[in-house]
Amino acid sequence: MQSIIWSQDGLKLLDQTLLPSRTEYISCQDYRRVADAIRRLEVRGAPAIGVAAAFAMVLGAREVSESGGDFLPALRNIAKELKQTRPTAVNLFWAIDRMLAAASRLEAAQKDEILAALEDEALALAEEDKTVNQKIAKYGADLFSSEISILTHCNAGALATVAFGTALGVIRHAWGEGKIRRVFADETRPLLQGARLTAWEMMQEGIPVTLITDSMAGWVMKKRMVDAVIVGADRITLDGDVANKIGTYSVAILAKEHNIPFYVAAPVATFDFSIKSGEDIVIEERSSREVTSFGGVDTAPGGVDVFNPAFDVTPNSLVTAIVTECGVIRPPFAAAIDKLNDKKGGR
Ligand code: MRU
Repeated sequence: MQSIIWSQDGLKLLDQTLLPSRTEYISCQDYRRVADAIRRLEVRGAPAIGVAAAFAMVLGAREVSESGGDFLPALRNIAKELKQTRPTAVNLFWAIDRMLAAASRLEAAQKDEILAALEDEALALAEEDKTVNQKIAKYGADLFSSEISILTHCNAGALATVAFGTALGVIRHAWGEGKIRRVFADETRPLLQGARLTAWEMMQEGIPVTLITDSMAGWVMKKRMVDAVIVGADRITLDGDVANKIGTYSVAILAKEHNIPFYVAAPVATFDFSIKSGEDIVIEERSSREVTSFGGVDTAPGGVDVFNPAFDVTPNSLVTAIVTECGVIRPPFAAAIDKLNDKKGGR
């Protein structure tokens, strides 16, 4: 099931808020609809929102071209609007900046030429995501020498990317090599990406998966039911601190306590080379209704105070290794991450 489909008719996004009960696509001809989809998590996962935003830039450029306005300034405004959808995943900003750079390079060209170049750039971004994930998958699977049970949090799968996934890409590849006994999927409160999306993706491929609530992870580790943890990331700093779905930090602490390796799988596009530590990462806070209700049903007393950060930051000291398309890096991360800087945008 593809999360993002581009054609001459526009962009189709698999509505991930309806999974697993319904598989429906949202048709977007207007970049504003894509922005809404990113905000509502209809499309989600750091690489997927980056690629969706890139195609939104193509839609926006077509609109500007038809309205006859001042092309580049109008496109920059659209970029600004798209960047305001979600603050934490750096892939969003990276992809939009790549689109802007592609347009700026052709500043003096005809509009048609710029439109074609933008479409080519978005298609290239989508294609790169697939190849990058395949490389991550291979490097990640090489970490395991025998059959293991592995725990993952949230959904860093095909749905969160253009194809294969990052953390789930590693699991898929390792499964193909006979190295996966079972996947434990944290349900991932409050929006249940683990239960709705990861469990679904694994079941579609016949990979044995056991769903647990987030609060069960510690006990599952204590009972030695898990040999490794692997998660995706939304932003990784120069020091190797990792922002990912809320609850990841707790899983990392639990893994440390139980001597279980904690791996992060992410493309170079997820590294933010402009910030040193996790302290500087902006953490998105979302509506209190995500915590006080589910499926339209109240699950908490009306008016209760709620704190709903969508992400947390796992300090590098809890991370065993980070798997990228350029290989596996291990602590101390700073020097290795510095080297990755050369690769960003130029793969
Ligand atoms: O809020 P979401 O569902 O977009 O959060 C997604 C995650 O935290 C993923 O783990 C991360 O984006 C990596 S996806 C390959």
